[in-house]
Amino acid sequence: MKRIVVLASGRGSNFLAVASAVSRGMINGRCVGLIVDRPGTLAAVRAGEHGIPVFTIDYSVFSTKSAYEEELIGTLRSLAPDLVVLAGYMKILGSGIIREYVGRIINIHPSLLPSFPGLDAQGQALAYGVKVSGCTVHFVDEGTDSGPVILQRCVPVLEDDDPGILAERILAEEHIALPEAVALFCSDRLRILGRTVIRLPDDSGEQVPGSL
Ligand code: GRF
Repeated sequence: MKRIVVLASGRGSNFLAVASAVSRGMINGRCVGLIVDRPGTLAAVRAGEHGIPVFTIDYSVFSTKSAYEEELIGTLRSLAPDLVVLAGYMKILGSGIIREYVGRIINIHPSLLPSFPGLDAQGQALAYGVKVSGCTVHFVDEGTDSGPVILQRCVPVLEDDDPGILAERILAEEHIALPEAVALFCSDRLRILGRTVIRLPDDSGEQVPGSL
């Protein structure tokens, strides 16, 4: 069983999707902690409902980013994760953490990367006028939303969409994609070859959530 730690900053619907898939036995792992970067998040409430320990590391009380990161890395080490999941975590991780957990940190982003990295991906997609968007789960490297892609799911972009409506349509796909990627990782079915992530066949013949 892999030890999964989730980092989130807000609503936590992607965290909930992972926690629910764990509860249903669809992931060979357990959530050993949720780390949030500010108090009062809905994500923390949801973790409490699932009996998952919450660690609040309030970014605003640290005088420097490196002091915050030191606390974060200490908390991560104490939880000994096999996998760190960024699920709506709104900070850029420092290179020390990324190097320590290389190949073991994944992120969900609401666009089809490499299009529209960074903030307001849905607004960027609408402003560009694309007809298709979606979400990407990827390994985290030291760039912004630039690591090797694990899987993507797409949605249509409609002419009367606004960023909120498009975000909702994409979010529904995120809730399928993220548990699926976590399940694949926790079953040792992902290999990184350069920029390409290979999905290994499942020896047990079992399907991971969301797979066709
Ligand atoms: C999601 O759209 C995620 O892709 C983005 O932030 C949002 C977080 O939503 N990075 P939630 O907190 O998981 O509900």
